[in-house]
Amino acid sequence: MSQNKSIKRIGVLTSGGDAPGMNAAIRAVVRSAVFHGIEVVGVFKGYEGLIEGDFKKLHVRSVAKILARGGTILKSARCLDFFEPAGRTKAAEKIAQAGLDALIVIGGNGTFRGADKLASEHGIQIIGLPGTIDNDLSGTDSTIGYDTATNTVVEAVDKIRDTASSHNRLFFVEVMGRDSGFIAIRTAIATGAIAVMTPEAQMEIEELIEILDKGAKSQKASSIVIVAEGEKHGGAVEIARLVEAQYKQYETRVTVLGHIQRGGEPSCFDRVLASRLGLAAVEGLIAGQGGSMAGIVNRQVVYTPFSEALSSKSPSLDENLRVAQILSI
Ligand code: F6P
Repeated sequence: MSQNKSIKRIGVLTSGGDAPGMNAAIRAVVRSAVFHGIEVVGVFKGYEGLIEGDFKKLHVRSVAKILARGGTILKSARCLDFFEPAGRTKAAEKIAQAGLDALIVIGGNGTFRGADKLASEHGIQIIGLPGTIDNDLSGTDSTIGYDTATNTVVEAVDKIRDTASSHNRLFFVEVMGRDSGFIAIRTAIATGAIAVMTPEAQMEIEELIEILDKGAKSQKASSIVIVAEGEKHGGAVEIARLVEAQYKQYETRVTVLGHIQRGGEPSCFDRVLASRLGLAAVEGLIAGQGGSMAGIVNRQVVYTPFSEALSSKSPSLDENLRVAQILSI
């Protein structure tokens, strides 16, 4: 979609699960907009705030000292009303009342599904920024927050490895990823996990036991299995129960890492990614881009239509899964 109206005032919001680097993205949006002579209005609590008109003007100094902070100063929410046409109509009215010429939405696939509808039903110019730890969006090599979240997992699993080795234990570590195995596979490679279970690969328990048996025969002193929460058996607790029933050699333990993966200071990588993309979103709007997500592919900024950004990125998991499997023998 290419529109050429002049942009004087834009709104920015964060929606869905928060991700480290969202604040860096908000800061980049505000400062890039001000640089280009555009006013910025912050929308609080994602689409909920858009429907309610919970807006506040943001200045250059409103975003001081947030570059290094986790979470989002604009707050976030998963808004059910926005799934309904009536909710989106209310949001479009608030956008018009506030005189917003365009919108920048920072979030994951739920956020973009909503943005796509708002854009097509009400003709609103919107650019999305990929802000999710899950990395499950096409049109960007990495989403904002993915690097930080995986670093958090690796730090935790390295510690678990110390105690696992001391006691000769089998650990199941559950990581986030309701629908995707990106966090699981990347961290499995980085921590030398014996196996990784993801929603995409659908590994059976028998196959896992075969892998564990091989490990035991080759004198592995400790074994760590990384499990994505959306894996088909229902997560690490359930897998541990199923394995324990057949596999008595090891003492097993389960660690569910949970929301610590979403918090904390963004890594250098995520700060730079968010900063580049915040500028790209503002300059994209000025150039007439809309209905698309700004991402970075092979170090270049690209704009991908929301529908394409939402299409499956899973094929790119296969090569990394192969690395994890070959190196874990
Ligand atoms: O942000 C995405 C995500 O981290 C998923 O991987 C996870 O399943 C979900 O959020 C958890 O969300 P909530 O905070 O609503 O429990």
